[in-house]
Amino acid sequence: MSIVMSISPPPPSASSSSSSSSPLASPPTPSSVPSPASLPVRTIPGSYGWPLIGSIPDRLDYFWFQGPETFFKKRLDKYKSTVFRTNIPPSFPFFFNVNPQVIAVLDCKSFSHMFDMDLVEKKNVLVGDFMPSVKFTGDIRVGAYLDPSEPQHSKVKNFAMDILKQSSKTWCQELMSSLSTLWDTIEADLSNNSSASILFPLQQFIFTFLTKCLIGADPSISPEIATSGYAMLDRWLALQLLPTVKIGILQPLEEIFLHSFAYPFFLVSGDYRKLYEFVEQNGKEVLQRGKTEFGLSKEESIHNLLFVLGFNAFGGFSVHLPSLINTIASDTSGLQQRIVQEVRSNGGSTLSFDSVREMDLVQSVVYETLRLNPPVPLQFARARKDFKISSHDSAYEIKKGELLCGYQPLVMKDPKIFSEPESFKPDRFKDNKELLNYLYWSNGPQTGSPSESNKQCAAKDYVTLTACLFVAYLFRRYDSITGSSTSITAVEKAKK
Ligand code: HEM
Repeated sequence: MSIVMSISPPPPSASSSSSSSSPLASPPTPSSVPSPASLPVRTIPGSYGWPLIGSIPDRLDYFWFQGPETFFKKRLDKYKSTVFRTNIPPSFPFFFNVNPQVIAVLDCKSFSHMFDMDLVEKKNVLVGDFMPSVKFTGDIRVGAYLDPSEPQHSKVKNFAMDILKQSSKTWCQELMSSLSTLWDTIEADLSNNSSASILFPLQQFIFTFLTKCLIGADPSISPEIATSGYAMLDRWLALQLLPTVKIGILQPLEEIFLHSFAYPFFLVSGDYRKLYEFVEQNGKEVLQRGKTEFGLSKEESIHNLLFVLGFNAFGGFSVHLPSLINTIASDTSGLQQRIVQEVRSNGGSTLSFDSVREMDLVQSVVYETLRLNPPVPLQFARARKDFKISSHDSAYEIKKGELLCGYQPLVMKDPKIFSEPESFKPDRFKDNKELLNYLYWSNGPQTGSPSESNKQCAAKDYVTLTACLFVAYLFRRYDSITGSSTSITAVEKAKK
């Protein structure tokens, strides 16, 4: 089947209407969070331990003995509460200036308070109280670290949303052409080997596609950026995030070498300079819009563009697409045949944003993958004032300045919202669209809209549409694929 491209802007946010019932009558979005007055007030359980050294056992549990998911789960079970106090790394003894004390919020209702900008502040808390050096972003605080109350946030967020709107004209076309290259590469590898690694081809694909769309420049203009651009971003990302992420290498080596200090920017300054110059020389049109439409200096535009491209977009898709491939390629329940049926009988011959609207199963599979594998697992927000937070069964007093920490992999398994929460149910969101009110991967409900007044992902709709198009392309090209998140072992071409 041939795949021709068409151009169409993304649809508005998904509708929340549904005929089926949901465990909750209305979403726990800020406007409708039930009044804590009707719930019993409970002291927040848990403790931070002794000053300074109290955080060490929690750090070791988090990175070594338990890992993040078990860490949060064990404390949830111990306190019989989805809201509790704990420390999370990075922390003492080497990170003196970082306060590890947080209030964990682990159900859909308490988590949703982090979307209410009247209650919480998002200044410098993207990855917690620890903030990577601004040296990684040209000595400026880029948009993701700004609170909506800071005027610069509006400029940068609107700039990001404008870039997406402008690029929607070529988004599908670039996606299809990059996908064609990706799967040609995988097929060529498979013709010589029993398995094709997808790690590098996939990252190459993500980088090329996003650079064309967001910067408006083809990386092939620069041979070095074309071949190594994605690896440059990987290194730049890794150095910023290492103190916060469990890698899984031999302990105590990981604790000593990766979690005890922040790596300096100079190790990747050469890479960053090359990426900066690439945008400066080849992204003139988008830089001009940054200046005339949003009042951003050239430097501000470039550093923000690199962050959106490298951290938000490349980082997000590099986690999400492998989990989507894994979900589908490892399925043995007949899901692939159902997807084949849907993507070939709906959406017309031309794959576009509009086509995906006609593919309910594909959308539901993407949403369910985002529910079970939220690519950005942790979200943070600081109390702007004293307020009461409510879980499903209790209310708790939060004091101004306290840091809330939501761990999405558990929040997205809230049994009060999602039936059989641990199971992958491909039709879950197809059968009950109201559940989209509780899908939070974008730091806001899937039914919400990103704006300058909130901190929801600027590309909320583009991400899900792109993932759906990825799946639709795949099953117009193949009858079946077999593999995992790291490799493909077989593809069966579509019978004409
Ligand atoms: C699978 C891919 C992606 C995922 C999982 C993702 C996820 C997120 C999340 C969770 C946040 C909120 C972080 C926080 O403040 O706690 C966010 C913010 C943001 N994302 Fe995405 N994102 C993805 C792709 C993209 C893309 C393609 C763009 C391109 C424009 C983008 C632009 C942004 C921007 C600009 C923000 C900051 C919003 C603000 O400051 O108000 N993201 N993203």
